[in-house]
Amino acid sequence: MAESVTITDNRTGQSIEVPIVEGGVSASEWSKLLPGIWFYDPGFSTTAECESAITYIDGDAGILRYRGYPIEQLAEHSTYLEVAYLLLYGELPTAAQLGPWVDEITRHTYIHENMRKRFLDGFHYDAHPMGMLVSEVAALSTFYPEAKEIFDADLRHKQIVRLIAKMPTLAAAAHRFSVGMPFVYPDNSLTFPENFLSMMWKVAEPSFEAHPVLARAIDVLFILHADHEQNCSTTTMRVVGSAHADPYSACAAAAAALYGPRHGGANEAVLNMLTSIGTIDAVPDFVKSVKEGHGRLQGFGHRVYKNYDPRAKIVRDVAYQVFEVTGKNPLLDIALKLEEVALADEYFVSRKLYPNVDFYSGLIYQAMGFPVAIFPVLFAIPRTAGWLAHWVEMLDNKTKIARPRQLYSGSAERPYVAIGERG
Ligand code: CMC
Repeated sequence: MAESVTITDNRTGQSIEVPIVEGGVSASEWSKLLPGIWFYDPGFSTTAECESAITYIDGDAGILRYRGYPIEQLAEHSTYLEVAYLLLYGELPTAAQLGPWVDEITRHTYIHENMRKRFLDGFHYDAHPMGMLVSEVAALSTFYPEAKEIFDADLRHKQIVRLIAKMPTLAAAAHRFSVGMPFVYPDNSLTFPENFLSMMWKVAEPSFEAHPVLARAIDVLFILHADHEQNCSTTTMRVVGSAHADPYSACAAAAAALYGPRHGGANEAVLNMLTSIGTIDAVPDFVKSVKEGHGRLQGFGHRVYKNYDPRAKIVRDVAYQVFEVTGKNPLLDIALKLEEVALADEYFVSRKLYPNVDFYSGLIYQAMGFPVAIFPVLFAIPRTAGWLAHWVEMLDNKTKIARPRQLYSGSAERPYVAIGERG
């Protein structure tokens, strides 16, 4: 017999049998029996908002796959641009598909001169790079008004290419502005990660040569951050996209969600925590204070993973490769000790709290010279591929406009009170 649940309305004695499909039950079936009775699920922790064929996570087993491919294999063998293609089009590109795809992205890395000169120049000198990035992405919709044609296949593809291609340029432009350095134009002879590093760090040399280990580290980190199914920013992309907003406006909204410290800002919190711990000897006392309820162990725990975040393992390996080149980040020893102490402690074991992707990534970024404020920007660049893949899937599935219900808990009807009579 097919799996199902039976729901009984105890007020009337009426029952309905609802099939369990792909691990879920249809809320519209429930509504047939109980119209006007809503599921109360703040934070959507038990609601599947959509059906998706893009990313699979098994949080108990610590599994992450893009389109069926294990993240470990993609991180070892693939590139960010190949992974972006996989997320968007469902299959790894053939050699005949990859060349033109990379070429197309490479030829769309430039941004309009008005964006660079007039728009960026309007920011205050100490503007946060993530605030700038959110505004830049939103502003792109005014440069490409045809982006509103979201059901025109060619135009949709063009905006996807533009967004993936221009994110590193916008990110680097925001950074250069915030540190008072001149803008560096994209160099189309470089790979995607090399070009990003060139736009970030080039000073007076004719062309910037990124260290291959560092360029590869950036590419791997981009692969690891490219998608993570229905996280806060991706859900935002789907919600705004469901109103048929253009992809630039929807991506700007998604980036704004990512800006929040509970989401894209945790790697910054890890660095601040490690810095404040200061020495290895101080680790046990710090863990004790967390257990006593004084703050959280940043970079630990996850809503979905109840096991070691598979991305964290890869990031830790990449960290060692990067430190071979940059020298060891002195905070690494504190991080390793913290992990050792926490993973042997009953408090963390019983709550299934393991290191997540943010625990080691900030150490790498810092060792490579990235300022802490740009960490969420480094997350936004690759997550753009995931946002767009979900946006396309949402449109192709003819999703209704996102419009949840609420349980009203305010006043009952009452008459208007004139200002002189208010208490
Ligand atoms: N340190 C200490 N205790 C913790 C932590 C932590 N990092 N995370 C959860 N707990 C405890 C929490 O106090 C609670 O204990 P109790 O049952 O005794 O009240 C229990 O574990 C369950 O916690 P929760 O808050 O109900 O779990 P959640 O799924 O709502 O929160 C989380 C998930 C990621 C917000 C949380 O683990 C956290 O705050 N972690 C630190 C911040 C962090 O590293 N965030 C990055 C997430 S990965 C990147 C991304 O997806 O954007």
